[in-house]
Amino acid sequence: KRPPAALLFIFGGSGDLNHRKLSPALFNLFIDNWMPEKFGIVGIGRRPYTTEGYHTHLMDGIRQFSRRKEEQNGKWNDFSQHVSYLQMNAEVEEEYQKIAEIVKQKEAEFGEHPNVIFYMAVAPQLVPDIAQKLGSLNICHDTKCTRIVVEKPFGHDLESAKELNNLLSSLFNEEQIYRIDHYLGKETVQNILALRFANALFEPIWNRNYIDHIQITAAETVGAEGRGDYYERSGALRDMVQNHILQLMCMIAMEAPVSFEANEIRNKKVDVLNAIRRYSNDEVHAHAVRGQYSGGWMKGQQVPGYRQEKSVSPDSPIDTFAAVKFYIDNWRWQDVPFYVRTGKRMHEKSTIINIQFKPAPSYAFPSEAADTWRPNRLTISIQPEMDIRLRFQAKRPGQSMTLNPVDMIFNYKDAYDGDEPEAYETLLLDVMEGNQTLFMRSDQVEAAWKIIMPILETWESRSPVDFPNYAPDSWGPEDAEALIARDGKNWVTLP
Ligand code: BG6
Repeated sequence: KRPPAALLFIFGGSGDLNHRKLSPALFNLFIDNWMPEKFGIVGIGRRPYTTEGYHTHLMDGIRQFSRRKEEQNGKWNDFSQHVSYLQMNAEVEEEYQKIAEIVKQKEAEFGEHPNVIFYMAVAPQLVPDIAQKLGSLNICHDTKCTRIVVEKPFGHDLESAKELNNLLSSLFNEEQIYRIDHYLGKETVQNILALRFANALFEPIWNRNYIDHIQITAAETVGAEGRGDYYERSGALRDMVQNHILQLMCMIAMEAPVSFEANEIRNKKVDVLNAIRRYSNDEVHAHAVRGQYSGGWMKGQQVPGYRQEKSVSPDSPIDTFAAVKFYIDNWRWQDVPFYVRTGKRMHEKSTIINIQFKPAPSYAFPSEAADTWRPNRLTISIQPEMDIRLRFQAKRPGQSMTLNPVDMIFNYKDAYDGDEPEAYETLLLDVMEGNQTLFMRSDQVEAAWKIIMPILETWESRSPVDFPNYAPDSWGPEDAEALIARDGKNWVTLP
């Protein structure tokens, strides 16, 4: 069923996020017949564009970044009829009347009042001011029909996140606020819930009695990508761990929900965040490692170090790599370490979750069989590979009792033909449908910051002495290997 009539205003309509992600996602939803029967999309920006020029700009983004790169036999023409551009200075209050007028116009055209969605695809520092000005714009009698979508970073630290939450909640109800974490829209991430809670097989062993430890790796090959301005105020811990990685941890560690109601799922996730151990400043050193990439060679090409990137200070203390060993202090997970790591300019792009089970309680096989013996492991590959592998022991064919580990693999591409939707498609559709399940509630954001703050404060109070400390095309600094090796374990990568 298609969502009800919608009018979408994209602040940052001439910007990068809209060009790369939002417009391609909306066009794909249109091709797949998921857009409402009646809808309008208005890109808002400062740059002057004619309607035609704006359409050309968006089509260019689709050719470069969409999973479908073509106009799709006239579909683009149909779609673009719904798309317009509004040049406006978002800092000037009176200009917002233009938005009110468009809403009125569309209401008349649609013959009904559409849901009005304001998407903040702008630099984070602009969000409070725009939200405030939108809040005083009276365009809808029923508050539920206006929605505001806020991108990460949601605040710069706990204090600023609280301030932003307070401001937004003084202007909108929580049901109107959609805080995006695009990892939650990924197919493979959503599938974690299906794997865990639609099968009887895994849940009985999904706990401290059977699981030795869990690893999450989110490695990227790209560097700062011209985003030095943003990244200098962020770093890997803020950019990836505070949000995406902690959300993956929640999916793996949460208790079974009793329904798929948005707040039920979010309650179960926030329970995980509240149970994650917060380190004192003295404990940080033993549990967290930071890194920054140097210049060097990457897949046959010479690449600059982080400190040589555009808009980056030559003695920048910013982390482009972070690894943390977390604990979740609750009944299910007591004493099970969760090792997480993320970094730029790493050996390969790969986001994987490894669930490492404990060894079998006793092992009666002859000693030569034991050489290749490995405990069971479940690997959930989020991207770019999309698969789930269960490793177990098998007997090697032949007269001797030799064992070796084998993988049972479920691969999305083999199992289902057709393209899976991109995260932004799923999330934009959810906003239009009014489903907040995959969006962050204010308490989730704050709980996540509380976990990260001691690490940030400790790192920021002491400049790193050894930066840069890892080469491009590697798996990060040696200390990250040591973090896990100390416990007699090692990081797992896909074969
Ligand atoms: C974004 C970060 O949230 O996620 C980027 O700001 C990062 O720095 C990106 O590159 C990774 O997303 P994905 O979907 O490519 O894993």
